[in-house]
Amino acid sequence: MSTIQRDIIVREVGLRDGLQIHPTFMPTADKLAWIKNEALSGVSEIEVTSFVPPKLIPQFADATEVCAGALQLKDLVVSALIPNLKGAQRGLELGVNKLNYVVSVSKTHNLKNVRRERDASMADFKAIVDLIKTLPEDQRPLIGAGLSTALGCSYEGKVALTEVVLCAEQLLDAGADEIVVCDTVGYADPALVRAVLKAVLAVAGDVPVAAHFHDTRGTGLANVTAALECGIKYFDASLGGLGGCPFAPGASGNIVMEDLCFMLDSMGLKTGVNLDLLLKTRQTMSESLSDLKLHGALARAGLPHGFVSNWSAVAA
Ligand code: COA
Ligand code: ZN
Repeated sequence: MSTIQRDIIVREVGLRDGLQIHPTFMPTADKLAWIKNEALSGVSEIEVTSFVPPKLIPQFADATEVCAGALQLKDLVVSALIPNLKGAQRGLELGVNKLNYVVSVSKTHNLKNVRRERDASMADFKAIVDLIKTLPEDQRPLIGAGLSTALGCSYEGKVALTEVVLCAEQLLDAGADEIVVCDTVGYADPALVRAVLKAVLAVAGDVPVAAHFHDTRGTGLANVTAALECGIKYFDASLGGLGGCPFAPGASGNIVMEDLCFMLDSMGLKTGVNLDLLLKTRQTMSESLSDLKLHGALARAGLPHGFVSNWSAVAA
C-alpha cells in the first residue's frame, strides 16, 4: 500500500467552472473519463458537476450520472456546486462528499447569479448547514463556502475588504467547513490577494481557507505565489484553463491545472500529481469536443530538459 504525499491540495473545477460556460454538451462518458484519468494522475478532489436547474445550464443535466460514476472512484473527494437549498438536497440524496455553496460578496453579482439578495443567500446557507446536521455524523458531506467576486466584480468594480470579511464571518458563524476566496472575474493582483487573504485568515481560525483564481488578465499564478506566502494550501484550477461564470460579464478561464502543478512541483512543493499523467488526461479530454479552446503553457512548451519531479508515492 502506498500513500501520496501532498504539501498542497489542488482541486479540479473544470468540469463545473469550465463546462458551465461551454455551449456544447460534453458526453457523460467523456466527463467520467476525465474525472477518472485526473484522479489517477493524483488530483484528490474534483468538483464534478453543479446542482443547478438543467433548464438554466443544460450542461449539468447529467449531474446524477456523473456523481454516481465519480463516487465509484477510490480516495477521490467528489464535490459539486450548489446555489441553494434545493441543490443541497440533491447532493445529499446522491451522497457526494462535499457541497460547494456559492455566494457573491458583490450584491449585484449575487442578484445576477442566483437571483436573490445576498442576505437571502446567507439565510439559505444556514438552512443548508441545519439540513446537513440532521444526518448522522458519519454521513454528513463537508460544506464549503465560496466567496464569489471577493477580489473584484465586473458589475461593481472594486469590492470592499470589510464586505469580504463580513461575508466570511457570516459563513463561518453558520458553520462552513471551508472558505474559498474566489477571484471570479480575474481582477486580482498579488498585493490585493495578500490583503484579502490575510484578512480572511484572521477570522477563519482553524477553518481552512482556499483560493480560486481566474487567469483572465494573466495574474493567476502570480496570485498563487502571493497566496502561498500567506500560508494557503488549497487551490482550485482547471485542466486546460477552462472556465468562467456565465452570469459575470468578461469572465474567462481558471488558472491552468497543469501549469499550477508544474510551478508548485518546481518549487519543491508536493502536489501528489504525476505531471505526465495529467498532460495525458488533458490530451484525452481535449479530444472530447472539437470546440473546446484549451490554454496552458506547460502543454505548449513541455517539461524542461532534465526536470525531476517531486511527485512521489511512499509506502504507508
Ligand atoms: N436544482 C434543480 N432545480 C432547481 C434548483 C436546483 N438547485 N433550484 C431551483 N430549481 C428549480 C425549482 O424547483 C423550480 O422548478 P419548477 O419551475 O419546475 O417549479 C425552478 O428551478 C425555479 O426555481 P426558483 O427557486 O424560482 O429559482 P430561480 O429561478 O430564482 O433561480 C437559482 C435561482 C439559484 C436556482 C438559479 O439562479 C441558479 O441556479 N443560479 C446558479 C447560477 C450558476 O450556476 N452560476 C455559476 C456558478 S457560480
Ligand atoms: Zn470560478
